[in-house]
Amino acid sequence: MKTRKLVYEGKNKNLYEGPEPGTLVQYFKDDATAQQGRKKAVLEGKGVLNNRISEFLMSRLTEIGVPNHFMRRLNMREQLVREVEIIPLEVVVRNVAAGSFATRFEMEEGAVLPRSIIEFYLKNDKLQNPMVTEEHITAFNWASPHEIDEIVALAIRINDFLSGLFLGAGIKLVDIKIEFGRLWENDMMRVILADEISPDSMRLWDLRTSEKLDKDRFRRDLGGVTEAYSEVARRLGILNEPQATERKGPVLVK
Ligand code: TMP
Repeated sequence: MKTRKLVYEGKNKNLYEGPEPGTLVQYFKDDATAQQGRKKAVLEGKGVLNNRISEFLMSRLTEIGVPNHFMRRLNMREQLVREVEIIPLEVVVRNVAAGSFATRFEMEEGAVLPRSIIEFYLKNDKLQNPMVTEEHITAFNWASPHEIDEIVALAIRINDFLSGLFLGAGIKLVDIKIEFGRLWENDMMRVILADEISPDSMRLWDLRTSEKLDKDRFRRDLGGVTEAYSEVARRLGILNEPQATERKGPVLVK
């Protein structure tokens, strides 16, 4: 059997060379990491759930015209994506104070922000992903002013759309981390959404009880991590689809 080429080894995902030029296979591992990789665990089934949840959310975003790298799911743990040049920024949109934001401003977790706030962090584990401003981003050429405008416009759309989508599933989107890449088509370059959107990269709270349904269950040793991710998938209607073996035959119309 031909072994495929590993293009990038991440903490939670791997990228392999795709079947056609300009494509990659994104493989979701069960590994969970926190504290810049100092805290590690293997959570059985997490990769499968994140593959499905990310497929679902990227597909809904495609339907409303948000350009993204997702092409199609290949199997339980893999999806085919467009190859992009990753912009080295983690873009965080916050609707409610939580995590590092709540700590930084000594705010109670759960306080609703006066408006959605966008923050940029440099993707650099060695430097522990420092927060950066547009001044740093343009001075060091991580992205151009035009690309920052596109990123901000897309981030606001993505956050607004997903907030509504999760609301319909009885879930509050507290904050979300997204990443973008440059897609070259002939001589034209577009900024598109890349990476994944899963409970690893969002804070999701039950609307009624504020129970955490995201990676904070791992970060804060609350237990029940994959159960929470399954609950998110179930509420999105992903786990309700009949499996191939359960599907009934054609129904006779009388
Ligand atoms: P923070 O409150 O710890 O800064 O996290 C903000 C959001 O970004 C939260 O939804 C978790 C997500 N996030 C990641 O996806 N990767 C990371 O490395 C960190 C620190 C946060």
